Amino acid sequence: MVAALAGSAGPAGRGDLESIAAVVLAAGKGTRMRSSLPKVLHPLLDEPMISHTLRTLREAGIAPERTVVVVGHGAELVKAAVSHYGPYLTVEQIEQLGTGHALRMAAPLLEALAGQEPGAAEQILIIYGDGPLLRPVTLQRLFRQHFETQPLLSMLTADANDPTGYGRIPRDPRTGAFKAIIEENDLTLEQKALREWNPGIYLCQAKWLWPALSRLQKNPRKGEYFLTDIPGFAVEAQGGEMAQPVQTLPVEAEEVLGINDRRQLADASLILRRRILEKWMLQGVTVTDPATTYISAECILEEDCVIEPNTHLRGATRIGSGSVIGPNSLLIKAQIGRNCIVQASMVEESVMEDNTRMGPFSHLRPGAYLESGVKLGNFAEVVRSRLGSGTHQGHFSYIGDSTLGTNVNIGAGTITSNFDGKDKHKTIIGANVKLGSDTIIVAPVTIGDGAVTGSGAVITKDVAPGTTVVGVPAKPLRKETGLN
Ligand code: UD1
Ligand code: CA
Repeated sequence: MVAALAGSAGPAGRGDLESIAAVVLAAGKGTRMRSSLPKVLHPLLDEPMISHTLRTLREAGIAPERTVVVVGHGAELVKAAVSHYGPYLTVEQIEQLGTGHALRMAAPLLEALAGQEPGAAEQILIIYGDGPLLRPVTLQRLFRQHFETQPLLSMLTADANDPTGYGRIPRDPRTGAFKAIIEENDLTLEQKALREWNPGIYLCQAKWLWPALSRLQKNPRKGEYFLTDIPGFAVEAQGGEMAQPVQTLPVEAEEVLGINDRRQLADASLILRRRILEKWMLQGVTVTDPATTYISAECILEEDCVIEPNTHLRGATRIGSGSVIGPNSLLIKAQIGRNCIVQASMVEESVMEDNTRMGPFSHLRPGAYLESGVKLGNFAEVVRSRLGSGTHQGHFSYIGDSTLGTNVNIGAGTITSNFDGKDKHKTIIGANVKLGSDTIIVAPVTIGDGAVTGSGAVITKDVAPGTTVVGVPAKPLRKETGLN
């Protein structure tokens, strides 16, 4: 048997990125999370944990079309989350019989991929869905080493003073050669002292892997098929032609932290957060207080913007150069131009052009668009509306489903009454309009350019350009004709 396996080991094949297909194992329940949510969907810096692994794979050059995600626990939820990040292939592991069994579930899809074009899926990258800190450069180093040395299997390894819970790696005391992976529960007392551990990232030659996988036996203690037996098989398969059937690549333990419980999730969040903050600081962003600043992996920040304490930037938020965000602000998928100020405010799925400012205590809800020079003061709320350049909305007011021209002054307490209990209606306000304090605009309504509304006016009908309206319901104010 061993000889047959050795015989099947050939050269590593084409040796390019296109020859690699990946499998992400994400079917486990994550018992130690003590959660009804599948482990890989637990948020890490406001994205599901698995999305970080998928991003790393993409950035390392493995396309979603060549990535199989093994789902099981919460399969539909995990599938839906994964499809959000690209056209990934998924396969279900109905019964979670271990990491080796999970890989078996993916084998038919990967073999089908191999059949599609010569050289495809010649190399199989296996990665666990609960290791979100891995960086693309590390994978690329693994690929390079694998193609250069052409072993049956390449894998990362890490060192730690306390590797409790991880599979341990004994080596030949004489040659230092890799011998096997031994899971925590199967360690002898002596082996418990081993510091080198298995992060669970392997790159294998497919034509050797599939027959080896079919030889896996259930671990007698746990009753599961352990993927970790596979590297040991490669060592057994060692023939005269291959001195090192398993090549290892050491990495920093921090980068391959596996998340099994919520303490490790918090540790990972801290590490990821620091990594992202450091990246932006080195690119010219001032982060006043890194300890209280949260920037998601999808954000893009320009040079010379300042992020003040207790600020959260989530989703694909962009901040232009010279803008100051915070303190105490929450931005979700926000597009902020240059030289803007957002102070103690919230911006969701909205755009602020250059030189706009808002806050303290204001809120842009989805679909708000502030043209350049717009100023929002305290307690301003805007949703699904466009405010023309130079418009001011200073004090406690609500603008919804509206289009405002340039240089409109929105008086304190102004409200667009856009909802009649059943439908939402639109408000159109022309340029240079002055809305008096406490104006209520009962939509649908159009207010023409240069119109003025008196304090407390309730606008129920269109207002002609240049007209001043007052009262409830608002009526045009007669000109000083001497007749009134
Ligand atoms: C595993 C490794 C261990 C390694 C550690 C690194 C095995 C047997 N052990 O242990 O050597 O040091 O990861 O973090 O592989 N999964 C499935 N189907 C299953 C079981 C698991 O898809 O039937 C998935 C899980 O969703 C998870 C990953 O495989 O994403 C790893 O499983 P987990 O139970 O966390 O393994 P560990 O005990 O951490
Ligand atoms: Ca794990």
